[in-house]
Amino acid sequence: MTDSALVELKGVSKRFSTSHILPVDEETRKRHFFKKREVCAADDISFAIAPGEIFGLLGPNGAGKTTTVKMISGLVRPDTGEAFVKGMSVERKRRQILRHVGVVLEGTRTSLWPLTPFENLVYYGMLKDVRGPILKERAHDLLDFIGLQDKKNVQVRRLSRGQKQKLAICIALIADPHVLLLDEPTTGLDVQSSRAIKDKVMEMTREQGRGVLVTTHDMHVAQELCDRIAIINHGKLVACRRTESLLEYFSEQIFVFRLDKPVDTELFSAIPGIGKVEYEKTDEPSLLIQLAGESEELRSEALYKIVRIFEEQRCLLRSISQRKQNLESIFLRLTTDNTDIDMTEKGNTCLSSW
Ligand SMILES: Nc1ncnc2c1ncn2[C@@H]1O[C@H](COP(=O)(O)OP(=O)(O)O)[C@@H](O)[C@H]1O
Ligand SMILES: [Mg+2]
Repeated sequence: MTDSALVELKGVSKRFSTSHILPVDEETRKRHFFKKREVCAADDISFAIAPGEIFGLLGPNGAGKTTTVKMISGLVRPDTGEAFVKGMSVERKRRQILRHVGVVLEGTRTSLWPLTPFENLVYYGMLKDVRGPILKERAHDLLDFIGLQDKKNVQVRRLSRGQKQKLAICIALIADPHVLLLDEPTTGLDVQSSRAIKDKVMEMTREQGRGVLVTTHDMHVAQELCDRIAIINHGKLVACRRTESLLEYFSEQIFVFRLDKPVDTELFSAIPGIGKVEYEKTDEPSLLIQLAGESEELRSEALYKIVRIFEEQRCLLRSISQRKQNLESIFLRLTTDNTDIDMTEKGNTCLSSW
């Protein structure tokens, strides 16, 4: 167990097999059972979340984000590996860990619509053993904090989608959990509601020291909110780094050389640590070179060699620039290319990178 981690996943894997039964065959009077297919929703996933940290889990639809959240909150049991919350095994100490975890699952109708937000909070608080004046005070405080004070006594059915989502976050916070798991918290919300939720998530993480896991497929949410980002695809973590390091890692690697005439791209193939070499579709020749070398030394060596080739070819080098990458382009590259770059920190684990 990594010291002081609030959440830790150690090599968890989960496969789902989907099957269905066909109606009875009229002729044979037999019923066929089809095992349709097996899906790997989580494949050897390991990471840890520290107090005061917002950890983003990014991935396309069906990548395994919700399954991961469910394994941390004890709603899905991993086939192999183990999940820990505050050092306790989710499998063995399920009841205890539920007190420390608040979850908002994507698109689920958490709140009871005929009740008011305040009544919902009292109801869920009592289910979680929060009682008496503390419960009422906390319910009022949470509704004030999230900006629902004027809706305290309005039936939930009359609230907007964003307001219902804010209430779901309050419900997750009613037992004052150390860990908050937010599955796609801003999906389908307007800009204002999304902004308000992001601000509140930052506030309660930074100022109240909670550990927060946010799953999203929205790059802006991830880039703005998360201290660290893991990218998941087909159940596998394909990247796990601090947000700025993830962005830097890629921007360091793509250089654009503006030239006065084209140079044969084959000339660069012998340089160690060179990735893709291609021309951009622009009026003047712009050569795009990707440096795949891991170390700064290798990249520097490759750059010297590239410039030397331009010199040998008697080519005018008009400018050299670095291609800035945003999270979206990185995400698309990691989830569509069959990239063989190991983007996880410290090999494959991502356990102690904070
Ligand atoms: N209860 C389940 N039964 C069968 N398959 C499931 C179940 N839950 C998830 N899956 C499958 O596991 C994969 C990952 O799902 P999920 O974790 O919901 O992805 P995400 O949240 O990233 O969109 C998908 O292919 C999904 O169809
Ligand atoms: Mg999901």
